[in-house]
Amino acid sequence: MPRDQFENVEMPVVAIVGSGLIGCSWAALIAATGRQVLVFDSRPDAEALVRGFWDSVHPELVALDLATPGTQPRFEFCETLDAAVSRADFVLECIPERLEAKLALYRAMEPALKPGAIVATSSSGLKLSDLQAGWTDPGRLIIGHPFNPPHLVPLVELFGNDRTDADVLPGARALYESCGKVTITLHREVMGHVANRLQAAIWREAIHLVDSGVVSVRDVNAAVWAGPGLRWAVMGPHMLLNLGGGEGGLRAYCQQFSESYAEWWKDLGQPSLDAGTIQKLVDGLADESGGRDYATLRRQRDAQLVAVLRALSETRAGFQKTDALV
Ligand SMILES: NC(=O)c1ccc[n+]([C@@H]2O[C@H](COP(=O)([O-])OP(=O)(O)OC[C@H]3O[C@@H](n4cnc5c(N)ncnc54)[C@H](O)[C@@H]3O)[C@@H](O)[C@H]2O)c1
Repeated sequence: MPRDQFENVEMPVVAIVGSGLIGCSWAALIAATGRQVLVFDSRPDAEALVRGFWDSVHPELVALDLATPGTQPRFEFCETLDAAVSRADFVLECIPERLEAKLALYRAMEPALKPGAIVATSSSGLKLSDLQAGWTDPGRLIIGHPFNPPHLVPLVELFGNDRTDADVLPGARALYESCGKVTITLHREVMGHVANRLQAAIWREAIHLVDSGVVSVRDVNAAVWAGPGLRWAVMGPHMLLNLGGGEGGLRAYCQQFSESYAEWWKDLGQPSLDAGTIQKLVDGLADESGGRDYATLRRQRDAQLVAVLRALSETRAGFQKTDALV
């Protein structure tokens, strides 16, 4: 895979526009690599939030060899959008998931962009073709969708289309991978990209199983983390079921289970997130949380994610080896 966009720019300057949940996390990861990070957010307490977030996650970044104990972040907090994007080689757009807000931001941003800069939106599910509306030249805009929290979860989903300049996806890919990310590239536009569609599929059934009285919230959560979720951290669903067929692989698995899956798929639920269903889920989570607050749960999730990531070097090396052959 060519890496021409930033080949001669050892340390591209990165701008983060919108430093909420996702922007703070991106800012910390990019700063850990020693790069200069220009931050612009419309809220006045953005600097305190980004610096506080850095302090809280720096030990995790060190544990993953993404930062050294002495790393000092090179953050610069900008008063205006222009001041951030006019000096950046790479702009990570992380404002809220509202099409009109993103289009208004792009209208203001495009005239100020440095020539050749790449703009990657973290959008969870908006379509690139919709986000390109209003650009004079949308060739530098792509989808670069992370999974929360981006400073820990390696996946970034990339998508560009026939209006995207040829060097943009390879350049973005090189930058993300230099920060330790695992990138996948979508071949065509689809609502929700890939990972959120998979998440939506499993969450739909998890809701249905609670809503229809089959199982409690606590137990459906355990059915994932103590069962298939543990395996999914190591290999994806197709590869795991390939092993489920024994020496005969996926073909043997399908011979045995095709009819069962056809019946199960027909029986899967179609829940809706109405007030009663949401209340049931919230009550179930309160039972399961046992008084642990948001900060405690987040700390537990992140500490265990770090442990899992440290154990996954083989999965990663295998992915990179296959990728090199493509
Ligand atoms: N929350 C998630 O789990 C998640 C995961 C992956 C991707 N994303 C995507 O990331 C993006 C950001 O989501 P989030 O959860 O961080 O939202 P958030 O609400 O936590 O943060 C958005 C930030 O943008 C700022 N902002 C709003 N308008 C702005 C403007 N015009 N200029 C500059 N700053 C502005 C806000 O002040 C806020 O700090 C969305 O597109 C979302 O779909 C979210």
